[in-house]
Amino acid sequence: MRALVVNPPTSGLRMEQVPDPTPGPDEVKVRVLEGGICGTDREIVAGRYGSPPPGRKDLVLGHENFGKVVEVGRSVQDLRVGDEVVATVRRGCGVCRFCRTQRSDFCETGMFTERGIKGRDGYFAEFYVDRPEYLVRIPRVHRLTAVLLEPLSVAEKAVQQARRVLDRTEGPPGTIAGRPRTALVVGTGALGMLSVFVLADEGFEVTAVDTYVGKCPASSVLSTVGVRYRDASAGLSVLGTERFDLILEATGSAALDFELATLLAPNGCLLLLGLPADDHRPFPVPGADLVRRLVLQNQAIVGSVNASRRYFAQGLRHLTLFRRRWGTVAEQLVTERLPWTDFASVVNGRRPAGIKWVLTMGG
Ligand code: BGC
Repeated sequence: MRALVVNPPTSGLRMEQVPDPTPGPDEVKVRVLEGGICGTDREIVAGRYGSPPPGRKDLVLGHENFGKVVEVGRSVQDLRVGDEVVATVRRGCGVCRFCRTQRSDFCETGMFTERGIKGRDGYFAEFYVDRPEYLVRIPRVHRLTAVLLEPLSVAEKAVQQARRVLDRTEGPPGTIAGRPRTALVVGTGALGMLSVFVLADEGFEVTAVDTYVGKCPASSVLSTVGVRYRDASAGLSVLGTERFDLILEATGSAALDFELATLLAPNGCLLLLGLPADDHRPFPVPGADLVRRLVLQNQAIVGSVNASRRYFAQGLRHLTLFRRRWGTVAEQLVTERLPWTDFASVVNGRRPAGIKWVLTMGG
């Protein structure tokens, strides 16, 4: 079968023939219909992240996925041929207490694998096989947004983490001491926008910022969900003296992260989701000022990665709610679907500004 293959840490992505996988008795075989491209894929293609399976040089790329079951192993009960599914990304280490209780997103050993990212082939291929416990069945009504479920699961987990921090002040649900919680979402790519939807749905007053020269591709979606957009191309000073209970960063700039910490309200939480794509040279940070503020104002900086299956289920519930409240906003995050043979222009960033590019594998 054909697959999109990388050779980390060498840069580049090629379409190649790889062996067609055969399902074991407890596995299903899935024909991939769609794959989403995200910043992590671009980092892997650039040779800055990712690793092949043990003993190999090549890795099949791709972790945002949507497909259809085409073959079912003899002891599989929960899935049938024709079911449409999205697969989770991380596979646990099998050793730590989190991986042994279906919480590999909190793996302690670091010995987990991630499909299409770390030590295990991904989904940018004609087929893959996996066990049903890693597959989430998708109702037909969500076909057009199923490929967004993986990044949505990451947003779901992240927002839940932040909520736990904010709940330290124990206002009525969705509020802090009687006023709505405020959130700043930094970055209006798919992960930022899905986080905007989750936060807006949960009653936060959300502001989104990005640095587009010209119109932000998400601006019409933002106005549909009633979220204010600020152009921060000239810097965060555009936000004036505003401070936020929750700041969710989905851009991947370490320098920016420290600047964002200065915009936290007392008792606030800075939630970091972006893997820094900056170069790795050290840069100065006003450390004493930062720590002083964190301590004196009960603030927290929290990182969040990946998502276990429960957040995929939560994401599906939210897709239904988003549709009910705001119509096709989630669909509108897909800027373009294009045949996977056109992968090069997307991965190399040679497309006009947009939100999410989806490769279609056919079928
Ligand atoms: C994926 C996560 C993964 C993370 C780190 C993200 O792009 O969505 O599932 O855990 O990268 O590898």
